Amino acid sequence: MSNLDQALAQAIERYRQARPVSERIHAEAMRALPGGNTRSVLFFPPFPPAMARGDGCWLWDADGHRYLDALGEFTAGLYGHSEPAIRAAITEALAGGLSLSSHTAREGALALELQRRFPSMELLRFTNSGTEANLMALATATAHTGRRKVLVFKGGYHGGVLAFAGGGSPVNVPADWIVARYNDLDDVQARVAPHRGELAAILVEPLLGSGGCIPGDPAFLLGLRALADETGALLILDEVMTSRLSFGGRQALLGLRPDLTTLGKYFGGGLSFGAFGGRADLLQRFDPRASGALQHAGTFNNNVLTMAAGMAGLTQVLTAGRLQALNDRGDALRERLNALLASRGVALQFTGLGSLMTMHPVAGAIRSADDLAAADDRVKALVFFELLARGVFMARRGFVALSLPFGEAECDLLASTLDEVVTHCRAVLPGRG
Ligand SMILES: Cc1ncc(COP(=O)(O)O)c(C=O)c1O
Repeated sequence: MSNLDQALAQAIERYRQARPVSERIHAEAMRALPGGNTRSVLFFPPFPPAMARGDGCWLWDADGHRYLDALGEFTAGLYGHSEPAIRAAITEALAGGLSLSSHTAREGALALELQRRFPSMELLRFTNSGTEANLMALATATAHTGRRKVLVFKGGYHGGVLAFAGGGSPVNVPADWIVARYNDLDDVQARVAPHRGELAAILVEPLLGSGGCIPGDPAFLLGLRALADETGALLILDEVMTSRLSFGGRQALLGLRPDLTTLGKYFGGGLSFGAFGGRADLLQRFDPRASGALQHAGTFNNNVLTMAAGMAGLTQVLTAGRLQALNDRGDALRERLNALLASRGVALQFTGLGSLMTMHPVAGAIRSADDLAAADDRVKALVFFELLARGVFMARRGFVALSLPFGEAECDLLASTLDEVVTHCRAVLPGRG
């Protein structure tokens, strides 16, 4: 057993011993849920901590440990765990009753608020998740073009049935995928060339989120816009994660106007949410007054709690100024963490944009999923468990998403804790060579 394996085994054993309640909760859940799990991304061996409650940007597990929440519910927790305006809006909506069986005043109001932020969403519709939003955007594209092929990117993630880590997944929805390398227009051209007349859509994240917070080059993303125009395909920009990078998402920062945009995560104020929207001529096809209108159903598409919480978040909390400050804080934190890791001489780095970042056990430049091929996951695991032992919670895969309550003091705490971990583990961490 190598020193790294030994250090990791010890860290995991310490983790297990300190969490008997979480272990018991997990064992009980295993009687009905495969592996005790109903959301794949959350599991890591031997068992994940069972969270008992949250407040601001802090979490407590069922064993009584307190953690600084640097994960922010994979970006859906942008407002933190207890934003007063959102709690008040949910309470107010509850008083009016749930499941009202018809339109309400809420969905139009929230849609207008989103349209104001994303002018490319001339019309939009709500779903219950980002996955559904992407499925509906793809369905819109295939219905509009009468074509079947969809260009996606290795390392891309658009939902549990639209996942392209390693190129694809056996549980992906059946579709005619063309999978190209991210940030590589030559690869795109080569793969698309035989199918230009068959391409229905290009589905792309402006930053590979789950794939490791790898930013798309502006020239690459604008090149995809041009390719869509040349081929008659629709450009679908998946801003489920990146919408938080500015008031109008990354598309506003890039001056990029997609045909369709998909949203999700925090726009529901912490409740289930998704939306797809874009060019009016495309969305108009869902107008139920028209004969032959396209159908888009969903019992909970306009559920009152999501509509209320989403609206409170956007109108009372998430000003352009607060978003900018959050992303500035993220940029500064990432630079600080990278400077720290470089000064310690370890082959670890954070990539990302604004308040989104991922830690990678790799020294060189990272522009696509292929650049992560040499990453040693044991290194990530060790740092993860050592941070957890010191009260900092990030995703097991190294993902960090700051929330609004995560301020300067919390950035200091994350940086000093990472420094402590790197110092503690220095002997077994790979050097920059
Ligand atoms: C870019 C992106 N698209 C889509 C999704 C799927 O959203 P949901 O989990 O709400 O279905 C995610 C979720 O992480 C995502 O990061």
